[in-house]
Amino acid sequence: MSIRTLDDLLAEGVSGRRVLVRADLNVPLDKQSGAITDDGRIRAVLPTLGALVEAGAKVVVCSHLGRPKGAPDPQFSLSPVAGRLGELLGAPVRFATDTVGESARSTVADLADGQVALLENLRFNVGETSKDEAERGAFADQLAAFGDAYVDDAFGAVHRKHASVFDVPARLPHVAGRLVLREVEVLSTLTADPQRPYVVVLGGSKVSDKLAVIEALLPTVDRLLIGGGMCFTFLKAQGLEVGTSLLEKDMVETCRNLLERSNGKIMLPVDVVVADAFAPDAAHDTVRVDGIPSHRLGLDVGPETVAGFSAALSPAKTIFWNGPMGVFEMPAFAAGTRGIAEAITKADAFSVVGGGDSAAAVRALGLDESSFGHISTGGGASLEYLEGKTLPGIAALEN
Ligand code: 3PG
Ligand code: MG
Repeated sequence: MSIRTLDDLLAEGVSGRRVLVRADLNVPLDKQSGAITDDGRIRAVLPTLGALVEAGAKVVVCSHLGRPKGAPDPQFSLSPVAGRLGELLGAPVRFATDTVGESARSTVADLADGQVALLENLRFNVGETSKDEAERGAFADQLAAFGDAYVDDAFGAVHRKHASVFDVPARLPHVAGRLVLREVEVLSTLTADPQRPYVVVLGGSKVSDKLAVIEALLPTVDRLLIGGGMCFTFLKAQGLEVGTSLLEKDMVETCRNLLERSNGKIMLPVDVVVADAFAPDAAHDTVRVDGIPSHRLGLDVGPETVAGFSAALSPAKTIFWNGPMGVFEMPAFAAGTRGIAEAITKADAFSVVGGGDSAAAVRALGLDESSFGHISTGGGASLEYLEGKTLPGIAALEN
């Protein structure tokens, strides 16, 4: 890889220099209290930030959070993240209440060597996500003025052609941070030369989100296990009735076609947990997939499916998992996701957990993170990497 790394930058010496770090601090927040419910993405950038602090850099961190519409919106403020980041770093993080305005300018100007500042949400500015090159460029100019060098450690956002990801590195000496390097190293082993059997588990709600990666993976994998909300469109494609379960009608034909072309590699659930409603306390039962009642909806895979999927996972040498098997946030519908996660940890395989939801599931279910080979911080980014797409954030570092 022709990408310069954080170590190259550190070797040049960064003491007293301003280093602009793009991080992905897009963490889930509790809807009521606004509290951070999973700080995994904050912890994931600590190695890069810690190294810069120790080397005496003035560290200016920027990130997006959620999808605000190009203007300040308090529910998407990074302010709680600044607090948590400071706790984890063991030193207060100075927070700028705007991204490139007066507060940001004075915060950056006042930074001492080895201090860290966090700018307010990048997406409070139209220039960050604009499709217009000039508009993005103008915002990138303002951001780039805060750094003498740029570090991209926002793996979760490398698939976005946004100002802070794509245009800023064109304006400053740029390197990949520790997290981005590790993610790319791991994912490249999955595409280049996975040890076999290579088994992929896909879940989550939408087939349409996963279609491209299923297409790209089918020739490569030995087994593809499909659960989660998207399994019902596949079951429908097999001619089964799915009650009121999640169904993407316009994808049924595509799923049928994929099943026909899959050479038996695709494995679908044989039983599911069906409920009267999408609610934590809804009455529920386990049924065979050919016996889903017309008025009920599937919210998890059943125990026989867990057993079958576990048997397929057990001989695997490489595993990639993206997407929960059911509505794991509700205890009544968490057994499928937990069972599959446990089967993955038991296999004597190099296992990669791809993405926001599945990584959050691992932690929410209290599973030991260290029993997985790698937990990616990027959902969309890791899928697009496996699809073989060019990722704007990585391409920008290569130049
Ligand atoms: C994510 O959560 O997937 C990343 O932070 C990217 O966010 P986005 O999908 O809103 O660009
Ligand atoms: Mg996403």
